Amino acid sequence: MAETPQGQGQETLSNLLQESRSFPPPADLAADANVQADAYDAASADRLRFWEDQARRLQWEQPWSNVLDWNPPFAEWFTGGKLNAAVNCVDRHVDAGRGERVAFHWEGEPGDTRTITYADLKDMVCQAANALTELGVGKGDRVAIYMPMIPETVVAMLACARIGAVHMVVFGGFSVDALGTRLDDSEAKLVVTSDGGYRRGKPSSLKPAVDEAVRDRPAVENVLVVRRTGQDVEWNEGRDVWWHDIVDRQPTEHAAEAHDSEHPLYIMYTSGTTAKPKGILHTTGGYLTQVSYTHWAVFDLKPETDVFWTAADIGWVTGHSYIVYGPLSNGATSVMYEGTPDTPHKGRFWEIVQKYGVTIAYMAPTAIRTFMKWGEEYPAQFDLSSLRVLGSVGEPINPEAYMWYRTHIGGGRTPIVDTWWQTETGAIMVTPMPGITHGKPGAAMQPIPGVDADVVDESGESVPRGQGGFIVIREPWPSMLRGIWGDPERYKKTYWSRFDGLYFPGDGAKRDEDGDLWLLGRVDDVMLVSGHNISTTEVESALVAHANVAEAAVTGASDPVTGQAIVAFVILRSEAGEGGAGLVKELREHVAAHLGPIAKPRQILVVPELPKTRSGKIMRRLLKDVAENRELGDVSTLTDAQSIQTLQEAFQESG
Ligand code: WT7
Repeated sequence: MAETPQGQGQETLSNLLQESRSFPPPADLAADANVQADAYDAASADRLRFWEDQARRLQWEQPWSNVLDWNPPFAEWFTGGKLNAAVNCVDRHVDAGRGERVAFHWEGEPGDTRTITYADLKDMVCQAANALTELGVGKGDRVAIYMPMIPETVVAMLACARIGAVHMVVFGGFSVDALGTRLDDSEAKLVVTSDGGYRRGKPSSLKPAVDEAVRDRPAVENVLVVRRTGQDVEWNEGRDVWWHDIVDRQPTEHAAEAHDSEHPLYIMYTSGTTAKPKGILHTTGGYLTQVSYTHWAVFDLKPETDVFWTAADIGWVTGHSYIVYGPLSNGATSVMYEGTPDTPHKGRFWEIVQKYGVTIAYMAPTAIRTFMKWGEEYPAQFDLSSLRVLGSVGEPINPEAYMWYRTHIGGGRTPIVDTWWQTETGAIMVTPMPGITHGKPGAAMQPIPGVDADVVDESGESVPRGQGGFIVIREPWPSMLRGIWGDPERYKKTYWSRFDGLYFPGDGAKRDEDGDLWLLGRVDDVMLVSGHNISTTEVESALVAHANVAEAAVTGASDPVTGQAIVAFVILRSEAGEGGAGLVKELREHVAAHLGPIAKPRQILVVPELPKTRSGKIMRRLLKDVAENRELGDVSTLTDAQSIQTLQEAFQESG
């Protein structure tokens, strides 16, 4: 925002603590919104009844006998019921005469495209289900999927769901080691992969990593390979099978069995810390119910007219719930994009919005801040007037990023739904509703109907308005994780031991004077400076609110005087130049002036890049290693392991 007046950052910052901006829903959207205020009343009057009503959105082959069996902390939903997730996502729409509706407008990074209707998808899924069966994959078997963002990835997932095999998608950017540990833990017998995919303007390979990971893992019987890029691959006769050889010759009919509501649907490993990754288990009926409901409710989806786009990878839960299961169960038309946002140019996302007339877009704050850094001139070149709802997910959205998103992408019109949830929750839990909630920059606002979330203090007591604490969930919800694959004790210990009888997601939160919720990041990321708790999120938002800062990451480093001291790493906006000592001083003062002197960073380093996981989360643990002059911890889930080393050297030189 080149023309941003200098004063604006300061004005914004005072809003950070006491956010006064509030955006009412547009009148036309509100009048016709899928969810009205009575949904909250209905759910609080009878939560289980509310979820039963939502479960009826789906096609059940056998009705449930019990809504909820709750043996804390183990929940079972819609027990006795039987359904097939693939039938719900595909066949149901074709049977209802909607086979010609587009399920996916797929766009490859090089610009190749495929239009896949629900009828096409049904044929593809049935063929793939038959092929999996021919390869000896049966109900309950685990299938690893290590793929680029191509339609076959969705087809493979749904084919598993159809036959009752449990899919375990590993993000295509993960290393051999990450793939290997996930194969071991899940004991997958098949890996579905491709020769490669397109990223940053060139083919990247996947098959060599699979070859290496599978070499010493005899439990993997076959590797099913989609040809995407046409690059040369090594071939292991007897083990490797081309997708086009086995899938294409299958019949397009497949009789789907109905599975128990609690039949495992998938395992998704949560993104890396130093500990062994946790295989989060989701099952069928409850998961599909909440994912389907939230996709319809939170995005105000009108399946006949909307074009929905989750700009995330299928390799993380956002893609599972809001590229695959949510949109397809609702019969929506989605965009699916293979590549990076700056290939071949920095306006690629907005070009896609214009081309397909995207009406609802959902992405992560990290992407939004990157777009801010590139500048508003890129979106300005495209017609974005089709957009009517914008979503954010993955981390707290800084008020400044929220304002940029609303202004430069949403044309100042669109509500922004800041959706808080986790791999473990399976679906959105806390969010504004676009037709009823006033949007407040930076706040996730309210639990959805049927979810009982609260903010509590150290001892588990609800905090009054205006206070901070920990977010907890008081009652089971349909899409909750059913456990950690193979480790029930770890499940209890990780999520249910901090507060008696409450689910603890691990995030800090506050309840503002209006009673609305603000998520403040992982509690591990809270700093203790001279006896004061300061959240990394608040300092980062303060920095991002400065006109020259595009992105900021903050960590606490041990300090002999203050216990912990605040160390910040900032990326400048394109037009801000190199920075220099003057700017660093100004930024330190800027934070101090508005959050209080206690929050003044001890050090600020201007950097070109920040260490991020593949899902776009800043790895503050590594920044802490840098700030405390330690050897770097595990970097295997980083997008770019080199950049953290460069950053470390720069930090050491800065003294
Ligand atoms: C963690 C879960 C949600 C799917 C993608 C990430 C953080 C997520 C928000 C938000 C503040 C958020 C939390 C949460 N987070 N969305 N809207 N506001 N924080 O899934 O990798 O399991 O990460 O992401 O810290 O616990 P995940």
